[in-house]
Amino acid sequence: MNWCVIVLALLLSTQKSWSYPSARFEEANSFEKYLEKARTVLDRVPLIDGHNDFPYSLRRYENNQVGDLDINDLTTSEPWASSSSSQTDINRLRQGKVGAQFWSAYVPCSTQYKDAILKTWEQIDVIHRMVDANPTAFEFVTSAQEIEDAFSRGKIGSLVGVEGGHSIGSSLAVLRMMYDMGVRYMTLTHSCPTPWGDNSQLDDPGNVPIHDGLTPFGKNVIAEMNRLGMLIDLSHVSRKTMRDALETSAAPVIFSHSSAYALCNNTRNVPDDILQLVAQNGGVVMVNFFVSYISCGLTATVQQVADHIEHIRNVAGADHVGIGSDFNGVARTPEGLKDVSEYPNLFAELLARGWAETDLEKVAGLNLLRVFRGAEAVRDQMAADGGKPFDEWIPQADLPAESLPCSTGQIKSVTTE
Ligand SMILES: *[C@@H]1O[C@H](CO)[C@@H](O)[C@H](O)[C@H]1NC(C)=O
Ligand SMILES: [Zn+2]
Repeated sequence: MNWCVIVLALLLSTQKSWSYPSARFEEANSFEKYLEKARTVLDRVPLIDGHNDFPYSLRRYENNQVGDLDINDLTTSEPWASSSSSQTDINRLRQGKVGAQFWSAYVPCSTQYKDAILKTWEQIDVIHRMVDANPTAFEFVTSAQEIEDAFSRGKIGSLVGVEGGHSIGSSLAVLRMMYDMGVRYMTLTHSCPTPWGDNSQLDDPGNVPIHDGLTPFGKNVIAEMNRLGMLIDLSHVSRKTMRDALETSAAPVIFSHSSAYALCNNTRNVPDDILQLVAQNGGVVMVNFFVSYISCGLTATVQQVADHIEHIRNVAGADHVGIGSDFNGVARTPEGLKDVSEYPNLFAELLARGWAETDLEKVAGLNLLRVFRGAEAVRDQMAADGGKPFDEWIPQADLPAESLPCSTGQIKSVTTE
């Protein structure tokens, strides 16, 4: 009798210990299948990420002295190895199957009215040098076609985005020269207002707008960006600035790194009414992975990032959502998306939820390519219509007093001796 009980108990326990891991094995096995499928999708179309702050890491950790820096593997050398916001190197970009990257030429708002333009120039320079120093991995590209051409050669197309209107010092001449240096988007503000546009923090409880969106000069900035074919990036701007820009722009716009406000009410995210306007405009919202914008908390998961992508699809449509990780700009990343090597996990998660591969291709990069071509078509049409550069200067009265100490004003002295 006792033996029977023991044998029965043994049988039950072994059965238990067999069946449980085998279910887990099947689960892992099917996720592995989704991962494989995800990787084949990312072999077909370039995964185009809207925002990566690696160039700012080069300033922070290397003073932009990148001549001898090996960026293939930054997981073992200091200070990179122990930095919580070091999420990028070439090996991991390859593992993550990144096809093209907008590298951010970011300088902080503390530079506004001081040396913002100079430091932005330095960031554009360091991006060019990083690309030139790694020709087997990167190719500097400036058009939708060049992204595709680089991808077909197995190169990570490398683009420049300037993060914040403070970087042009309210000068359309600087904007034009930045376009000539390869800059293909400008975020209208970072975390400070410019003399011509309001930033997202002004929508936080207790704050009030300064310009109530874009000033007339701010609308000129939009028009000049349309004429140049530079993408208008509405991440970081206030709700009213989003509306004004969407109303003014003849070209589709992007949000290079913003998620859905309905799922996490951070003003860096995009509210549903704006998502609907983005759909009408033909633009794309590239989802940010920063846990503070995904869960509004201190941790998040790859599943929650997928929730944001699904929400934007549900409100705006699958043609209007993309990827804008914000890697290297943030210290906290979601579980399953810890660095640039893990993008396939996100696409596998969407496949597991029943997403069509054709929609995944759009999220990965086809939407951004369509938007980019749309902006290029507006540029070409404006040129065909005889459009000339906008040469208005910002009205002196629009410039705040704090901008004056570092300016010599609009020099019109009669003598030059
Ligand atoms: C988001 O929601 C929380 C909780 O309801 C609230 O305290 C906070 O002020 C909200 N944030 C914004 C930007 O409205
Ligand atoms: Zn940002």
